[in-house]
Amino acid sequence: MPSLPLDTIYHGDCRELLSSLPDASVDLVVSSPPYNLGKEYESKVALQHYVDEQAGVLRECARVLKRTGSIFWQVGAFADAGMLVPLDIRFFPILESLGLIPRNRIVWARQHGLHASKKFSCRHETILWFTRSDDYTFNLDAIRVPQKYQNKKHYRGDKKGELSCNPDGKNPGDIWLFRNVKHNHEEQTIHPCQFPEDLIARIVLSATKPGDVILDPFMGVGTVAVVARDHGRHFLGAELDPGYHKVAMQRLSGEPDENRVFPNLKTLRDYVERTGEPIGRYRFAVQVGERATERSKAKVYPEEHHLAEMEERLAYEEEAFAADLRGHERPVDRKLNGVGPKPQPSPEEKLFA
Ligand SMILES: C[S@@+](CC[C@H](N)C(=O)[O-])C[C@H]1O[C@@H](n2cnc3c(N)ncnc32)[C@H](O)[C@@H]1O
Repeated sequence: MPSLPLDTIYHGDCRELLSSLPDASVDLVVSSPPYNLGKEYESKVALQHYVDEQAGVLRECARVLKRTGSIFWQVGAFADAGMLVPLDIRFFPILESLGLIPRNRIVWARQHGLHASKKFSCRHETILWFTRSDDYTFNLDAIRVPQKYQNKKHYRGDKKGELSCNPDGKNPGDIWLFRNVKHNHEEQTIHPCQFPEDLIARIVLSATKPGDVILDPFMGVGTVAVVARDHGRHFLGAELDPGYHKVAMQRLSGEPDENRVFPNLKTLRDYVERTGEPIGRYRFAVQVGERATERSKAKVYPEEHHLAEMEERLAYEEEAFAADLRGHERPVDRKLNGVGPKPQPSPEEKLFA
C-alpha cells in the first residue's frame, strides 16, 4: 500500500497527488477550490465544465477520507455579466451523491465588499461540511466562544439560581465572521484569496484530534498546512502555481529569504519574537510602510467583536429602513454613523437625573 507524503505540499496538479493516495487514509479534507473559470468557453458551458472537473476532485477526496472523516468545502459564487450562481448549490448534490452526509452549511459573512448597483451586494460565502458516516469527530469544547449572557441563571424550578448556560462558553453557530485576509491583515501574502488562519483553526480543532491527517488539495499559500502544523496535526496537499507553492514553503519554514524578506507580516513577527532580532532588519513581501510594526502595537479584534459589530450595524440599518417605510425620522446611532444630534435622555433618565 502506498504511504502518505505527510507534512509535504506537492508542487503540481492535485489530481496527480490524489490518485497516488490510498483509500481511507485522511481524517479531514478542508479546501477552497479555484473558481476563476477562464474565458475559453461561453460562460455557462465553462461553469458546467468546471463543476464536472471539480466533481472528479471531490470523488477522489471522498475515496481517501476515513470512515470517521469530514470534508469542509469553502466556495463563493460564480459571477459573469450580472449572472450569479452560488457554487455551494452546485457542490451540495455532488457531495451527497458520493454518499456523504451533510452536517452544516456555514455562512462566512463579510462586512465589506464591492457595492453592487443592479442587485444586492454580496456579503457572504459558504462552507459545506459533510461527513463520511455518523461516527465523526466534533470537539465542541475546543471551539466554544463566550456566552452572550455569561451569568444568566434559572429563575424558577429545581435549578433556580444555578447558571442556565455553560460557563465554558457556547457553540459558535453557523454564521462566521473571520476578517478577510486583505490589507492590514498580518497574515496577508501575495495570494488574492487566502484563508484566515483562525477560520481554519476552528475547523481543525473541532473536526480532528492531535496527530490526525488533514488534506488540502488546493493549498494556495499553505494556510491549512500552517494551521495543521501549529495544532499538532499532519498535513498534505498540492499547489499548481510555483509562486504560491514557494510562499507556502516559506511560511512553513518561518525563515526569511536571502534578501531578509518574509512572505507576510505574521511570519516576520513570529521570527523576531523567537530570535530576539530587531524587527527593522527585515521586510515582508506585501509591505507598504517603511518599517514593519511590532505585534504588541497591533490592534487585534477577535471574531466575536466583528460579529457583534455586524449585528449592531444590520439591526440599525433595518430600523432605519422601517422608519423610512413608516415616514418616521430615522433613528440616529452616534456610535455607528458618528453624526446626528446628541441622544436625548429618556423620561426615566430625566426623572432620576
Ligand atoms: C482559492 S485558492 C486557495 C487558497 C488557500 N486556501 C490559501 O489559504 O492560500 C485555490 C488555489 O488552487 C490552485 N490550483 C488551481 N488548480 C489546481 C490544481 N489542479 N491542483 C493544485 N492546485 C490548483 C491555485 O493556484 C490557487 O492557489
